[in-house]
Amino acid sequence: MSEMDSRRAFLTIAGAGALLTACRQEERASASPPGASAAPSAAASGQPKEDKAEDVSATEDLMREHGVIRRVLVVYREASARLRAKPASVTPDALQQAAKLIRTFGEDYHEKQLEEMHIFPALMKAASPLMNTVSTLIVQHQRGREATEYILAVTRKAIGAAGAEPLARTLDAFARMYEEHAAIEDTIVFPAWKKVLTPKELDEMGDRFEDIEHKTFGKDGFGDAVDQVAVIEKILGIELAALTAPPPLTP
Ligand SMILES: [Fe+2]
Ligand SMILES: [Fe+2]
Repeated sequence: MSEMDSRRAFLTIAGAGALLTACRQEERASASPPGASAAPSAAASGQPKEDKAEDVSATEDLMREHGVIRRVLVVYREASARLRAKPASVTPDALQQAAKLIRTFGEDYHEKQLEEMHIFPALMKAASPLMNTVSTLIVQHQRGREATEYILAVTRKAIGAAGAEPLARTLDAFARMYEEHAAIEDTIVFPAWKKVLTPKELDEMGDRFEDIEHKTFGKDGFGDAVDQVAVIEKILGIELAALTAPPPLTP
């Protein structure tokens, strides 16, 4: 996508989001006039129920998606160690499911539809000093997709002794890259993105991200992804308490 195309896409999205927010504010104002004793219920008004407790900001949305991805990175690290110790102990199907989750939720949705369509173009439009960082993040997205392709291919059948080490290396390399990738986005890129948007634009992005999630996954994409990673962890016996570090040795 050219810089001009990125700017056009951003302005179109911002315009659509502004309209959506204006409509919602008007709806709220008409549903709760000052001094009214009670607003009509969602069922009574025929409007879809909107649970404000579930309303998440755009950056919270991105960061909790990183949480799902990080849980897959733990699966990758754990699987890699087991592959080196005893290849037959790793169920290929669990890794296949993990890579599929990275593909659908991490790459095709989080990276392509949110970061590459909205976050990075907005930083480009604002001539952010983070352009070199963004270029590296894009290269890493692509390298990650190549790794995922490989993991998907080699876990379609049993993992033999010869295939264990190359797969372990790929899992480790992906996890190492993505741990830093997500941490840089959380601590540098997303805060910079917030600064180039007005509070109103940021609010609109939250609504836009929610719409994309619903269109992509049909319903609760995040909730489903959390459920899927929990199933993968269960297959491999990865569990929070078991990961508590042992007490350190006395110096
Ligand atoms: Fe990214
Ligand atoms: Fe990300």
